[in-house]
Amino acid sequence: MQRHVASGRAQSGDPPILEAKGVTKRFGGFVALDGVDFAMAPGERVALIGPNGSGKSTFVNCLSGALTPEAGSVRFEGRLVTGMPPWQRARAGLVRSFQIPRPFRRLSVIENIEVPLNFALAEPPPGGKAQRALEILESIGLGAKAYGSPKDLSQVELRKLELGRALAANPRLLIADEAMAGLSDSEVDEIVDLLERLNAQGIAIILIEHIMRAVMRFSQRIIVLVAGRKIADGLPGEVMRQDEVERAYLGQ
Ligand SMILES: Nc1ncnc2c1ncn2[C@@H]1O[C@H](COP(=O)(O)OP(=O)(O)OP(=O)(O)O)[C@@H](O)[C@H]1O
Ligand SMILES: [Mg+2]
Repeated sequence: MQRHVASGRAQSGDPPILEAKGVTKRFGGFVALDGVDFAMAPGERVALIGPNGSGKSTFVNCLSGALTPEAGSVRFEGRLVTGMPPWQRARAGLVRSFQIPRPFRRLSVIENIEVPLNFALAEPPPGGKAQRALEILESIGLGAKAYGSPKDLSQVELRKLELGRALAANPRLLIADEAMAGLSDSEVDEIVDLLERLNAQGIAIILIEHIMRAVMRFSQRIIVLVAGRKIADGLPGEVMRQDEVERAYLGQ
């Protein structure tokens, strides 16, 4: 049985911020996503988990517009976004960060935030781009590194910069695809803390993550994908006790 729960922040009856129905994606004859339904409340914190190759990144690529599904629909704040290019979805407030950070290495840290500010916002920010970029860097703990080079950032700082680039668009939904892989336990905590702060500002977050400690600490709800199908959707403790979820993980 699948259970749907509203977030602490969302009022029951709030229209969903995101609603995906029957999302199906094929690569040649291979079905990577098979009719995935997913709805999320404003301000909710959801983890998307599943074994390697189960379709998590493919699903968020269909949400963000990097991939076009063969069937199904995606609505963001009630608006049909299926077919809209990624930049337009980002301007609408639906933003993702990438699994592997690729900053512009010849630009400074702050310029790496100014670049997405140029195309992510329909109008320049009130205090100007430089001020907004600095605010973003301060909010992610990189204020002191603003005028340095991304080459001098540590792994965890690069992950923060990647999240900072996503924040340039003022997202109301942020999708973080494996923002913590390869980090130490304390660095994982730093990223979870950062995501919690962003969520406290009202940003709904989808966390794709293999690190279960982070998933259990962060999420109000867990979705499990296995071989392109959603096999569970509910409260973290309940989902992790489901036999099918246990089998999917033991069978990895
Ligand atoms: N562009 C593509 N062309 C062909 N097959 C693809 C493509 N992208 C993904 N796939 C396949 O679709 C399946 C789902 O891949 P996806 O990257 O979504 O998995 P994932 O759940 O994100 O895995 P991971 O945890 O390893 O990141 C895999 O079998 C993958 O090989
Ligand atoms: Mg992936």
